[in-house]
Amino acid sequence: MEIIRAENYKHMSVLAAGIICRQLLEKPNSAICCPTGSTPKGTYEQLCLKRGSIDMTWASFFNMDEYTLLNEENKNSFNYFLNQNLYEPFNLCESQINRLQYPEDASPARLLEYDERIVKKGGFDLLILGIGSDGHIAFNMPSTVFSAGTHIEKLSAKTIADNARHFSRGERVPEHAVTIGMKAVMSAKKIILLISGTSKAQAFKKLVSADVADPMFPASILHLHRDVTVIVDAAACEE
Ligand code: GLP
Repeated sequence: MEIIRAENYKHMSVLAAGIICRQLLEKPNSAICCPTGSTPKGTYEQLCLKRGSIDMTWASFFNMDEYTLLNEENKNSFNYFLNQNLYEPFNLCESQINRLQYPEDASPARLLEYDERIVKKGGFDLLILGIGSDGHIAFNMPSTVFSAGTHIEKLSAKTIADNARHFSRGERVPEHAVTIGMKAVMSAKKIILLISGTSKAQAFKKLVSADVADPMFPASILHLHRDVTVIVDAAACEE
């Protein structure tokens, strides 16, 4: 696991966008799995600044996860987020995008089909990850099953509380999500994990000192992957 310490959020975002550009240059038909959230937003912004010089025509994209009960039009849905921050700015065709949607993808057959699509690509060429304050990656919560495929996950109380900031008062914060599993995470050829802000400082510290593959701290499995680059900003390195 390589750790790159960025000066700040913008620096982290520039570095991450640079890795995505390089990936697309080296392999234009890359399969890239994309996260949502405050952490990767800046990375997508930096990518958009390079729009003229990046060709995404041959690439394919996989949504990492999605809340249950929120459709694509809902501003808190991850489909909406990725449409706004990546897919629309780059004018991607729907045929390039692999979406997780609920309830459409809730059946065991559809969940399996998502994994089959990933396997058909030979695994993700690049997987971009954020991290939850409890160490979750994608929506694989503590007490994760490391062999899991795409599945529906019950979110931890901590994650529901963390996510509440995105929802207005009186709005119900989703308690379940459909997410890629650890099997797809570990089959990725290259992973970048972005960690930003003081609220993630504990998670970063725990990751660095974690026992390999502790199910109660899902990100710890990344110690077993052979190509992980962690880009952490100064705020997340603070004690
Ligand atoms: C959600 C997402 C994760 C993301 C996490 C942290 O739980 N499913 O993929 O890493 O939020 O989000 P943020 O970057 O907004 O802190």
